[in-house]
Amino acid sequence: MQSRYPIRLRLNGEAREFEVEAWVTLLDLLRERAGLTGTKKGCDHGQCGACTVLVGGRRINSCLTLAVMQDGQEVTTVEGLADGEQLHPLQQAFIEHDAFQCGYCTPGQLCSAVGLMNEGQARSVDQVRELMSGNICRCGAYPGIVVAVTEVMGIAAQDERRPYEPGTVPA
Ligand code: FES
Repeated sequence: MQSRYPIRLRLNGEAREFEVEAWVTLLDLLRERAGLTGTKKGCDHGQCGACTVLVGGRRINSCLTLAVMQDGQEVTTVEGLADGEQLHPLQQAFIEHDAFQCGYCTPGQLCSAVGLMNEGQARSVDQVRELMSGNICRCGAYPGIVVAVTEVMGIAAQDERRPYEPGTVPA
């Protein structure tokens, strides 16, 4: 029985070839074979969104798909979002709006937000929240994430975070 299968991917704009066992997930291929460790493994069960990447411009949980199933596809990871030294507008907005704390979920949040924009369905803050709900942030950086994503999408959103005032305890 054949134990490895040749696959070709266009990975962050570059033609790459791999030989993988049938059971290797796209996530493991990216991290362990392609050296792209920006994509994170959180739950490995499709529940946290840390592994979100773009396949053909659509966001998917890379832990839930086998690498062999994506033969011939165009795959974009967080490493492929910037244009050289020029950050993707979402990356810039995440920095400006402090949209992360530990950063573990951030690559998935960014790829998911790019996919969200490609889908063109979100028209309001609530829809952004709903359609990004598959990406979990254990630090609770959601307010900054929502502000960053909605700003890039041109949706008006209010930053719900309160400025810290020395000597006061937030209610
Ligand atoms: Fe894929 Fe959590 S690692 S959804």
